[in-house]
Amino acid sequence: MSLPRLAVLYTAIAVVQLLSSAAYVPASQMVLDQTSAASAILRRITTDPERGWDAHSVVEDLVQSLNADVWHVGQHHVDVYLPQGSANASSPSLDDLPHVDTHLPNALLKAPRTRPQSHWNLSSLANTTFHAEYHALEDIYIFTRELLDLYPDNVKVVPIGHSVENREMFALEIFKDERTKAKKTGFVITGAQHAREWIATSTAMFIAHALLADPSESYSMAPLLSSYTFYLVLVPNPDGYVYTWETDRLWYKNRQTLGPNEKCVGLDMNRNWGHKWKRRADFPATQAAKKAPANPCAPWYPGHRPFESPEVNNIANFITTLPNLRAYIDLRSYGQMISTPWSFTCKKTTKDAEDQLEAALGAAAAIRIAHGTTFTAGGLCKSTYKAPGNVVDYMYGKAGVKYSYAVHLRDTGTYGFLLPPQWIRPVGEETANMIKALAAFIVNKKF
Ligand SMILES: *[C@@H]1O[C@H](CO)[C@@H](O)[C@H](O)[C@H]1NC(C)=O
Ligand SMILES: *[C@@H]1O[C@H](CO)[C@@H](O)[C@H](O)[C@H]1NC(C)=O
Ligand SMILES: *[C@@H]1O[C@H](CO)[C@@H](O)[C@H](O)[C@H]1NC(C)=O
Repeated sequence: MSLPRLAVLYTAIAVVQLLSSAAYVPASQMVLDQTSAASAILRRITTDPERGWDAHSVVEDLVQSLNADVWHVGQHHVDVYLPQGSANASSPSLDDLPHVDTHLPNALLKAPRTRPQSHWNLSSLANTTFHAEYHALEDIYIFTRELLDLYPDNVKVVPIGHSVENREMFALEIFKDERTKAKKTGFVITGAQHAREWIATSTAMFIAHALLADPSESYSMAPLLSSYTFYLVLVPNPDGYVYTWETDRLWYKNRQTLGPNEKCVGLDMNRNWGHKWKRRADFPATQAAKKAPANPCAPWYPGHRPFESPEVNNIANFITTLPNLRAYIDLRSYGQMISTPWSFTCKKTTKDAEDQLEAALGAAAAIRIAHGTTFTAGGLCKSTYKAPGNVVDYMYGKAGVKYSYAVHLRDTGTYGFLLPPQWIRPVGEETANMIKALAAFIVNKKF
């Protein structure tokens, strides 16, 4: 990291330290008002193709009648987010479909009013309070700075370019020693491309910390550094992430201006990667929308061209400089799934499908050992829907990373993207188990 850049990081830290003298309330101490009538609803609609409501027609109906926020499309259900006060406005057809509602406490919709502090004491993975709450971008800079101070021989910050709003993006390199790091097998992990998937970024930070933690601690991943060098992009979408903290907790895309007369902002980064990219997102989309030009206001708008998002472009350029890449994980939420390429088609499997799936099944079993959480494993397109321009397709198809996965973390639809902060640590622990299992599989396969 060059000096002017460090100066920027230090300035950011100085600013937040000024702020941090105010009272500090950990988000995990927020009282969740489960009974409040005035709350948003996460509605799970059971799909039933035989009776005429498959996922596609449900989404079509919702998108057309309500402009609803579709959170998740599963094999037997669709999750829709209904903001507070919108329940009565929902279409009769939507109410008629079999469904279960979860009331989401309003507290979860507000970014926690925490103040950054630099007293997390990251010298221990188990004892630090850092992983008990979500963190604003300024906290993430401090976390990074503290890792550099505590573990100077094992971690480096690599600047990788700027976001649309000119925030500096960075990757962490974590290795056993500087001299041999390029000879080890490369393992790449990215946090939330979709801004609202906070648990993805929190988990990426837990993993970074676990890789550096003393091997005597539970869930330490340090022994992996004998065989691997890790590269982590904690915040792939910094502008969107800041926007979820300051303006709209449920923002999804980046914050790109798409053209002089465009009324909507942002593109879906995870449809903007340059492998089998498509101008139009096929699903979820209405029949009418399929024939019309791509709609930049849709959450899944893929951009005018691949790599239009500078954030995607920066990460892709960084990846191409890395040696011996063998594994990639795109951390996401939610749904508890480990998914293999392809995303752009449900009709084809990759030539490495067998190994990819075997490793994923082992990883799912390892997750269960930590806290009993069940993950499924399978092809990404089949477990969700066809989505071209996805990062796992790019990493496998273009960057040549054999073990490339999308991992949707907890939960399965109780809180969805609003997963309460007390789950950050258990999710981090089970994900550490998952990565250890994948890493062991890959090493064994090589010899
Ligand atoms: C919804 O409708 C019910 C009955 O008509 C009414 O009691 C309730 O206040 C309404 N809720 C909202 C949020 O408008
Ligand atoms: C952090 O914790 C370690 C033990 O885990 C302790 O030795 C050290 O003094 C602590 N540092 C601070 C600044 O409190
Ligand atoms: C964590 O805290 C416990 C209880 O205070 C202590 O026994 C243990 O040594 C600490 N672990 C580390 C790694 O600091």
